[in-house]
Amino acid sequence: MLAATSSTKTSTEQNRLVANDRKRALFRLSFFLRAFILPSEAGTAEPASTPGEENLSFLVATKSKFQAIRGTRDLLPPETALWNRVEGTAREIFGTFGFGEIRPPILEPTELFARAVGGETDMVSKEMYSFEDRDESSTSLRPEATASVCRAYIEHQMQQLPLPVKLYYIGPMFRRERPQKGRYRQFFQIGAEVLGGTDAPAIDAEVIEMVMSFFDRLQLPGVQLEINSIGHNADNCRRGYVAQLASALEKVKDKLGTDSQRRIETNPLRVLDSKLEREQPIIQNLPRIADHLCDECKAHYAAVKRQLEMRGVLYHENWRLVRGLDYYMRTTFEITAAGLGSQNAVCGGGRYDGLVELLGGPPTKGIGFAIGEDRLILSLQEAAKVTTVAARDVYIAWMGEHAQTTAIRAAKSLRAAGISVELPPVGQKFGKALERASKLNSRYALILGDNEVAEGSWTLKTLADGSQQKFSEPELLDFLKRSL
Ligand code: HAM
Repeated sequence: MLAATSSTKTSTEQNRLVANDRKRALFRLSFFLRAFILPSEAGTAEPASTPGEENLSFLVATKSKFQAIRGTRDLLPPETALWNRVEGTAREIFGTFGFGEIRPPILEPTELFARAVGGETDMVSKEMYSFEDRDESSTSLRPEATASVCRAYIEHQMQQLPLPVKLYYIGPMFRRERPQKGRYRQFFQIGAEVLGGTDAPAIDAEVIEMVMSFFDRLQLPGVQLEINSIGHNADNCRRGYVAQLASALEKVKDKLGTDSQRRIETNPLRVLDSKLEREQPIIQNLPRIADHLCDECKAHYAAVKRQLEMRGVLYHENWRLVRGLDYYMRTTFEITAAGLGSQNAVCGGGRYDGLVELLGGPPTKGIGFAIGEDRLILSLQEAAKVTTVAARDVYIAWMGEHAQTTAIRAAKSLRAAGISVELPPVGQKFGKALERASKLNSRYALILGDNEVAEGSWTLKTLADGSQQKFSEPELLDFLKRSL
């Protein structure tokens, strides 16, 4: 607790320093632009900015094009249809397990993450987007949402609700990591947390079962679940193990890379995460946490495994799975999927009893996970399990003034029946209209000229094979409802 508080202070100070550095950099940039790039602007009178306000009006004069910030991207149709389908499936499956949705804010006090995730972690010390707000408080774009959900649990006194409280969230997170395939600076997570009540191993197993059922429903390829227990923070459990690990690491320090050497001091457990080739044989010979768990943690871990087996969930044990955030204890797990290259963790989670208390709430058990939605989508796409083609059910090829009135009415009744309709804003020659209909991947073209309208007999063309059928207005609606 004390250590967490002091590291919090350090990281808050660090954040303030970083914010000041950024201000100075912005000022230098503005000076440079004014002096050298925009000389015509240099002499013009500018409205004085009030203290504390940046006057950036000179930037408006540049004509350069804008691009999404590095590590962020636009999600566009037709791909967004897949995102919506994935999110819809998550809502449906999580709902069947009794989870309700929470939508916490994207901005939170920097200190929330420093205290929950840990001031020494990469996420907090290097990767957060933090800024000094106008009231000089340090604010951050959330790098993860477990801390926010715990903050909300305390703020809304959810301990008074029937326990456990089961919540899920879907939304963007922000981490300033080096962008690569499957790793972005703005990315999306689908996460779930179970808070309060007991720490019965059946809860751990059910949470894992839920995420595995979700992946199963999506037919995610190559799913592999790895589990571990990292015990609890006591001398006869993890703390004792970490001390032994640190002294074993000291003995082989010279053979380790600089990152691992540094971690002997800051967080020896993280050395086990190392992917560095030459460290692998050394790590294999390090003491293992399973041999140092206290009796309670050992029993809890054995029961979690039994509970997973009762649910038919297949798992591999990985004694090196320690996860990078400070709040974990006992059960940790990660799920990988195919087609993702080096960033193949599609879900990470674990138990975090004590986190709510650390944030000022009552003693509370907690466990949860977060799925990297960008990676999930990538894996589904790579496996070609999904087709993301833009499609319309019906393209209305109309020409003539009477035909437009009828076309508008037809579009309205088809859309009301849930059928997607493209209604061109101006009449088109039929040849052109059919060309556009197939470019838009339409299934049918409804042909409405003044003759068809006068006769009350409408032609429906199936674009795949060119066949045509004639219908009256009610017959058409009936046919489309049955065939789409
Ligand atoms: P995490 O392991 O940091 O855990 O992130 C969970 C998942 O988010 C990762 O497995 C990965 O799929 C995805 N992810 C993380 N960083 C990026 C990135 N830069 N670009 C794309 N995807 C990324 C947490 O965030 C914990 N809050 C999970 C949790 C919830 N534990 C308990 N409850």
